[in-house]
Amino acid sequence: MRPARWEAVAPPAGLPLATPVEITLAEPAAAEALQASLAAAGIPATLVQAPGGSARTVLFTEGLAPAPMTARHWAALAAARPARQPGAKLIFLQRLSADTGLEGLTRTLRREWPEVSAACWTLLENVSGEVIAGWLASASEDLWISPDGTARRAALGPLAAPRPLPPAEQGLWLVTGGARGVTATCAIEIARQSGGTFLLAGRSAETPWPADVPETSDLKSLRGLMASAAVKRGEKPSPAAIDKAARAALAGLEIRATLAEIRAAGAGAHYLQMDTSDAASVDAALSTIGQRFGQITGLIHGAGIIADRLVEEKTEAELRRVLATKAEGLFHILARIDRAALRHVGLFSSASAFFGNRGQSDYAMANAILANAGRALRAELPAAQVKVFDWGPWEGGMVDATLASHFRQQGVPLIPLGEGARIFAHELLAGDTADVELVVGTVWSDT
Ligand SMILES: NC(=O)c1ccc[n+]([C@@H]2O[C@H](COP(=O)([O-])OP(=O)(O)OC[C@H]3O[C@@H](n4cnc5c(N)ncnc54)[C@H](OP(=O)(O)O)[C@@H]3O)[C@@H](O)[C@H]2O)c1
Repeated sequence: MRPARWEAVAPPAGLPLATPVEITLAEPAAAEALQASLAAAGIPATLVQAPGGSARTVLFTEGLAPAPMTARHWAALAAARPARQPGAKLIFLQRLSADTGLEGLTRTLRREWPEVSAACWTLLENVSGEVIAGWLASASEDLWISPDGTARRAALGPLAAPRPLPPAEQGLWLVTGGARGVTATCAIEIARQSGGTFLLAGRSAETPWPADVPETSDLKSLRGLMASAAVKRGEKPSPAAIDKAARAALAGLEIRATLAEIRAAGAGAHYLQMDTSDAASVDAALSTIGQRFGQITGLIHGAGIIADRLVEEKTEAELRRVLATKAEGLFHILARIDRAALRHVGLFSSASAFFGNRGQSDYAMANAILANAGRALRAELPAAQVKVFDWGPWEGGMVDATLASHFRQQGVPLIPLGEGARIFAHELLAGDTADVELVVGTVWSDT
């Protein structure tokens, strides 16, 4: 495990760029100002609706447009497609804020399009066109650029020395995705270490186990058992209906098992049916929490889905689903709770946010947004522990048996459930408050 830190980058030493540049018109005012600054620096720039002309360097302004978060990220991905050509230098501009994550796109593009160099430049406050023109002479890499012209890049820092756990706190924890998958394992570990009351939230209903079927956690066997039980009752459900009922029963079983483990640890546990991607559902689930339980002091956001597909084939609907669950979901919750009462915030991100990953442009962006949102929360709540965990692959959750064997064949070690949960609990309860983003895993940090 290594914390993400920011290191200074030497200013560009080369000659100013003299080759033509295209600037996308997604944010016309910014595009025109940039064009004028580049012209003053002797760099010819053309404003384009879509890139794809002869210019090898493209500055994308989609990330500066005043569009909603998801639309902005989709627009940047869609704008990149026609610019793919060998030797192209694609630079995506965004302002530093809680709801930006275009670095997830450029880190993925570097993996999917090796013939192209892609970079995300995050502008801290008002950065002039002159400063941007100056950095065009540098190699393409993701930068945070300051108004004074200096820049920093993300790097992995040294592992901090372990600290002792603080005394138990008895807080009220809201844990999205906390009843199932790896987040459930982490919630149980926090319950063991810190006690308190846990509100586990997920889309699944707490479906009771079918009365005439023996308990099993294996989906295939359960389908068979449920089909036989239906035949005995004189029913003929379709295979799709059996599959749906079996998955619902397994979800209910997993939810009850997590609740039981948290209670066995001496903590309180309740289940909330809530879809993080739907603001109305979050509203409904959280509307009576204050009266029933008091203020939420710990937020763990583990809800997440994947819809892997290469940038060129990715659909807007897929990207919307992925961002809605994780990134919009976080903002839906933060808008409905008293943020000032938060003492712990743990966000489940992925190593793909830091390194990019083939097929995961949307997922990498959603997770990169979590990292920026985590840093913004850290600034807003200086007394709180805010941690964003960029996990490598776990031995569970969305890593099923097929994916696990794929990782093993590639020599990628998986994070064992117990070890991952202990790392999570220790960092969230006792980590160094200065480090917000942590990359957890081994091989990922070398790729
Ligand atoms: N497993 C890994 O190797 C790995 C690696 C890196 C990062 N992560 C991150 O870790 C988190 C948990 O992953 P996992 O592997 O445990 O995945 P998982 O087994 O697929 O579990 C996903 C969890 O999120 C919940 N969820 C999904 N969509 C939701 C929504 N719209 N509203 C509320 N809850 C929702 C699910 O419950 P319902 O189905 O009941 O809604 C479930 O509890 C994710 O954020 C993932 O990105 C996992």
